Amino acid sequence: MNIQWYPGHMVKSKREIAESLKLIDIVIEILDARIPESSKNPEIDNIIGNKPKIVILNKCDLAEDTVTYEWIKYFKSKGYNSIDVDSSTGKNIQKVYNIVKETIKDKIERQMERGIIGRPIRALILGIPNVGKSTFINKLTSKSSAKTGDKPGVTRSRQWIKVNSSFELLDTPGILWPKFDDKKTALHLAFTRAIKDEVLDIEELSFEFIKEISQIKPNVITERYNIELSDNPIETIERIGKKRGCVVSGGNIDIIRTSNIILEDYRNGKMGKISLERPRKVDCNENER
Ligand code: G4P
Repeated sequence: MNIQWYPGHMVKSKREIAESLKLIDIVIEILDARIPESSKNPEIDNIIGNKPKIVILNKCDLAEDTVTYEWIKYFKSKGYNSIDVDSSTGKNIQKVYNIVKETIKDKIERQMERGIIGRPIRALILGIPNVGKSTFINKLTSKSSAKTGDKPGVTRSRQWIKVNSSFELLDTPGILWPKFDDKKTALHLAFTRAIKDEVLDIEELSFEFIKEISQIKPNVITERYNIELSDNPIETIERIGKKRGCVVSGGNIDIIRTSNIILEDYRNGKMGKISLERPRKVDCNENER
């Protein structure tokens, strides 16, 4: 699997985000609830320093509720308020402001003591491409203008979008690149389309997807496609292809077409809610010691 990584973009992003941090009270980090670990930029906490942060687990409609709840607990144990959100429908979007306010209540109190009253809280949205930053902003502000494309950092001149009279967002979210340190991270980003399909070998991707799902949720495949699972992912893919009529001349299975069907089914939630990552036990225990 050959994925391009552009460190130059990251350097520019970091610089632009650092500039924006001077203007805001709080960072809203958006992660994909199915893959909170892989969709997190590992440098974000270094980049934002001691700026307060909350963690949004977006696309919660596609992740398992119990696992998402474990993640919320995990982030809380690390000192970050966290909430599950579905930016497509707006689920829990209205709760975000209260969580933001709660997170920086000490700062607001200090400001009040100094006579600063009614100054709106200002936030910056950060996250990797395709995690749902624009959809989240649009839902929160009831607008449809936050689309920015996958440009690094915060590129346009800065403007504020009003959520309400007490809460404003920087109109352009900060884009951070994910890190492909290991194959599993890269695969999870690709399964969820955080990495575009054009840069990937779709057959290899569906092979790896079936391999992983066969281990963690075998019933999903058998129920969705009404087939028996094979120990060999290729055979499972061929069985799915046959069921779905992806047969070419000579009776061979069109593996590319089948691979696309499988991955689209997962991405669109047609296999049900599937979380690919859970908080690591060792990390959860760290704070309890
Ligand atoms: P970005 O600004 O972070 O790059 O992400 P953007 O808002 O453009 O969202 C990326 C895709 O994810 C969009 O789908 C969007 O509709 C979808 N999305 C965002 N939030 C949610 C959510 O909470 N639940 C679900 N199910 N989907 C969400 P798209 O335009 O179809 O793009 P693509 O998926 O075809 O790449």
